Amino acid sequence: MDFKKKVAEKISEITSLDEPVILGAMETPPDPKMGDVAFPCFPLAKIMRKSPAAIAQELAESFPKLDFLEKAEAAGGYLNFFYSRGGYAKIQLEEITQLGDDYGKSDMGKGKTVLVEFSSPNIAKPFHIGHLFSTALGNSLEKIYRFLGYDTVKINHLGDWGTQFGKLISAYKRWGDPKVIEKDPIKELLKIYVKFHEEAKKDPSLEDEAREYFRLLEEGDKETTELWKYFREISLVEFEKVYKMLNITFDSYNGESFYSDKMDEVVQMLSDKGLLVESEGAKVVDLSDEGMPPCMILKSNGTTIYATRDLAAAIYRHRTYNFYRNIYVVGTPQALHFRQIFAVLQKLCGDWAKDCKHVGFGLVKFPDKKLSTREGDVVFLEDVLNESVSKTLGIIKANSPDIEDPQTVAQKVGIGAVLYAFLKNNREKDIVFSWDTMLDFEGESGPYVQYTYARGRSILRRADTGFDGADFSLLTSDEEYELIKHICSYGDAVVSSAEKYEPFYVNRYVTNLAKLFNKFYNTHPILRSDVDPELKKARLALVDVSVRTIKSALALLGIETVERM
Ligand code: ARG
Repeated sequence: MDFKKKVAEKISEITSLDEPVILGAMETPPDPKMGDVAFPCFPLAKIMRKSPAAIAQELAESFPKLDFLEKAEAAGGYLNFFYSRGGYAKIQLEEITQLGDDYGKSDMGKGKTVLVEFSSPNIAKPFHIGHLFSTALGNSLEKIYRFLGYDTVKINHLGDWGTQFGKLISAYKRWGDPKVIEKDPIKELLKIYVKFHEEAKKDPSLEDEAREYFRLLEEGDKETTELWKYFREISLVEFEKVYKMLNITFDSYNGESFYSDKMDEVVQMLSDKGLLVESEGAKVVDLSDEGMPPCMILKSNGTTIYATRDLAAAIYRHRTYNFYRNIYVVGTPQALHFRQIFAVLQKLCGDWAKDCKHVGFGLVKFPDKKLSTREGDVVFLEDVLNESVSKTLGIIKANSPDIEDPQTVAQKVGIGAVLYAFLKNNREKDIVFSWDTMLDFEGESGPYVQYTYARGRSILRRADTGFDGADFSLLTSDEEYELIKHICSYGDAVVSSAEKYEPFYVNRYVTNLAKLFNKFYNTHPILRSDVDPELKKARLALVDVSVRTIKSALALLGIETVERM
């Protein structure tokens, strides 16, 4: 139940101010001792021609009795409301228990489709740590939207087209050895690709050769297409390994190549609208009215580029899905690219362009020298995930030597730790990659939250009594009340995450939930024999609601839970 809204309704009745206005003005007092929610009476002073303090006093005296309200108290110009703890606990927890796994869900997204494009690595190139950031964010956002009732589509916009494939084909024809490639496809393809660049410095005719191969590819030439397909397939096999570790799937792998036959139409549309202008032999859309550099559509040799494919992709997505939002989870360095794309779409297609949204994120920094230098400057993702799992395995074996199936536990905790680290802060912030922070079982980390979950589950397993029909009104201590209030704010955290494209609200929510749970658990005995049986039942039920909510919130971050660790 929304207590704040109930209070607002009452204030509205007695002051005849509009309820939404009141709700908008209501505040949470900085200190819980000042009440659960407050209404500042300042806006009423003008209308009622009295001081805010006098109005607060008058309202406090005449405020009607409500079953969940202990008192309304005037303090300066504020009217502070104190809920009755027992009443609050009972009403809220009964409702939450009733909802079960649906608690926190909403139908605000009913009938609306949200596309989340994320991950989008490049064929024959390493799946790097920036792609992992995109993967963690996009995966979580999609789950959050689905939780709120939206229809979602997960799109992997693979980088599988462009002049670089001409280079790769040329390199392969010169130095490629399928046997070596099969053993470690991406590293080997990267190696010959790098070699191409080195050789092309000495012999520029290689560049012409590469251009010719890409032209053949665009024309659909059989042999080059077969090669391209081969590169794409072996790369996907490698990417799938990582997605499998992360437990991530996609609804569409329509990457750049998918749009190779859909760009002529876009160029035609732009030209029909008179938006294409010549610039040094190339065709561009002028964006000076938006204060941006022109968006290149066709190079001087007539070939399309990254931006052209993105325009075709957006138009295709609009036609296919009629989206409510089309979200691109791509690093902030590409911010200008997306602003240009959206500006061109606005000129070309009008209104729906504003439903396209670039969700950027910061850089990942590696103070740990060891991580940053393998194979040039690239950090291989699979290595990072494997290392996290093996470090976690070490910690778990040391902490709980007789745990069952430590490998599976380490897998879930180690991967969860990495995902958590990416979703911990505002996404625009750069991340400093640190194993110590990430795997600190006592700090703000994935393992800390997962451990709290396991701890709660262990209490429930050890309990000698069920807790059906527990009397929640017995839960009135500070720690219990704080915990319950926090549990009740789950829906707000999820909605904030969706509205701001920031899974970190859910992350912060679940971290605080774990902290409050531990505070409750450390202050109040639950299973001890001297605890009154009714109180024990109520506390067990609170443990149950807490762990369910932790599990639900972690799932929205893509993080799994374990029963023991
Ligand atoms: N493949 C690109 C890269 O690795 C990201 C693709 C972003 N999505 C897009 N629609 N342009 O940088």
